[in-house]
Amino acid sequence: MTPIQISRPFFNLKDLLCEQLRDLHDAEKQYGSQLPEMVAKATSSHLKDKLSEISDRVLSTAEEVAHACRILEVSAEGVTCEAMKGLVREAKDTSSDWGDSATLDASLISNAQRIAHYEIAGFGTARAFARCLKLGEVAEILQHLLEQAFQDDKDLSYIANGGWFTPGINHEAADPAFKPTPTPGIGAPSTPSSRMDVPS
Ligand SMILES: [Fe+2]
Repeated sequence: MTPIQISRPFFNLKDLLCEQLRDLHDAEKQYGSQLPEMVAKATSSHLKDKLSEISDRVLSTAEEVAHACRILEVSAEGVTCEAMKGLVREAKDTSSDWGDSATLDASLISNAQRIAHYEIAGFGTARAFARCLKLGEVAEILQHLLEQAFQDDKDLSYIANGGWFTPGINHEAADPAFKPTPTPGIGAPSTPSSRMDVPS
């Protein structure tokens, strides 16, 4: 078996944490460059709002990661996140030529959730390293970013799947005539065209 080639040696866990933070910093910048295009493509107002919220925040997320790098006295620059390159390329490939507006929105949600899951894995692992190294301030920054990524994922799932009385985008993509079953005494269900509010 061919040995794995490592471009740079990691001497200890702190080195590994620094390298992962630099990778995450580049990942957030790449995502920030792609988000305006995703916002423009979204047809659901709730999805557009959610992606705009992420877009407005992503550079401050990158800045928080850069702050963690400064605490560790390493430059945030100089690393390319190859995984985010691929995720962004897939998001770029999402096109309205593929189908109706609900299917386009469902595809954009899948792109954004794959990226949210990458963020959750990255921030979560880095937080675990920081906690082990007793780097409290860095761990706190990463905890905050992890919570944001979790919330983004949750909101996107809500937009995709809907709730008890409101269909989500996935239902609309599967069947444009979809209507939820009315439940006696609990108010009228929403129509398929009125998508649910994203929880704050
Ligand atoms: Fe990466």
